[in-house]
Amino acid sequence: MAIVSSNIGSSDPELIPRKNRTVDSETLPDEARTARDDGLRPKTLDEYIGQIPLKEVLGIAVKAAIGRGDPLDHVLLYGPPGLGKTTMALVLAEELGVRCRITSAPALERPRDIVGLLVNLQPCDLLFIDEIHRLPRVAEELLYPAMEDKRLDLTIGKGSTSRMRSIQLPPFTLVGATTRAGSLSSPLRDRFGLTQRLEFYELLDLKAIVKRTACLLGIAMTEEGCLEIARRCRGTPRIANRLLKRVRDFASVLGQVDLIDEALVDDALNLHRVDNRGLDQSDRRLLEFLIEVHGGGPAGIETLAAALGEDTATLEAVVEPFLLQIGFLKRTPRGRVVTSSGKLHLANKKKP
Ligand code: ADE
Repeated sequence: MAIVSSNIGSSDPELIPRKNRTVDSETLPDEARTARDDGLRPKTLDEYIGQIPLKEVLGIAVKAAIGRGDPLDHVLLYGPPGLGKTTMALVLAEELGVRCRITSAPALERPRDIVGLLVNLQPCDLLFIDEIHRLPRVAEELLYPAMEDKRLDLTIGKGSTSRMRSIQLPPFTLVGATTRAGSLSSPLRDRFGLTQRLEFYELLDLKAIVKRTACLLGIAMTEEGCLEIARRCRGTPRIANRLLKRVRDFASVLGQVDLIDEALVDDALNLHRVDNRGLDQSDRRLLEFLIEVHGGGPAGIETLAAALGEDTATLEAVVEPFLLQIGFLKRTPRGRVVTSSGKLHLANKKKP
C-alpha cells in the first residue's frame, strides 16, 4: 500500500493553548461544530446531565489517568443517536485538558486520511471517530498497532520494491462512537479498554436539559412547558433541544414569547406531528404498517424497510430503539410485533 502524506498535515492548526485545547474545528463534523458554536453542549462532567453510571465510570478513569500522568485508555461509546456521544468525547478532552480531534469513519475513506490524523497527533490528544463501525478495513488495520503499541505500520511503495516502515506515535486516546456496536469487528472492539453504552434519558434529566438549554437561549419557559418537551423528545437530548427551538419559533410567530407554557408547547408540537409520547411520522408509519398489513406482526425487518422506503440499518439504529424501549414494539425470532400498548396508543391517536 502506498502511503502519501496526511490530508490535514500541512493545514494543521498551531498548537492551541492548553485551556482552549478542546476542539480542533478543522476536523469537526458540521453537527458538532454547530452545537459547539451554539454553546449549548455541557463542557464538563458536572455540567453533563444524566447518564450517571457512564459519568461515574469515566470520571474515575479520567482521575486515574491524570493521577498517573497517562493518557486515558481507549473508549468505545455506543447507543442510539442523539444521546451525547460526541458531547461526552468533548467533555472527556476538557476534563483531561487535552486537544480533541474529531472525525467520522466515512471521512477516512483513503488510508492516507487515517495516517494523516495519526501522524499529526500531539501527546495525549483525544481522537474521536464517529460512526466507527463504518471504518474501512485498511483504516481499521492501521488502527490496531496504533491503539495497542502506539505504532503506525506503513507499507511504502508497491509490488516487489515495497517495504515496511514503522513510525512511533505519541500516546493518545481513541474515543470511538457507534450506534451499532455489534457491527464492529471483534479485534477492533477488543482494543478498547472502556466500552460504555449510553441509555435513553430519564424524564427528569430531560426536563433539566430543556431548562438548561432554554436558559442558555434566553427562552422563558414554565416548569410544565419544559416537562412537556421532555415527555415528547423520545428520551433524546438532541431531539429535546430541536423541539425547544421549534417551540420557540412557534411562540415568536404567535407573539407569545413572554412565557412559554405547556399549552403552547402542545400546540407547537402538534403542528410538527410529534404526539404525546414523542412518536413522529416514521414511528407511526412503521407501527401502522405492521398493524394494517401484517395484523400487528410478526414481519421481518427487510419487509418493513422495503415497505417504508428506509434502509434496514436506519430502522434498526434510529427508529426501532425507542419503540422497543417504550414497549410499543417487540423483536421476536419471527420478526417485529406491535405490542398491545403500541396498538392502544395508535387506536387512541385515531379517535376523532
Ligand atoms: N445538552 C444536551 N445533552 C446534554 C446533557 N447530557 N447535559 C446537559 N446538557 C445537554
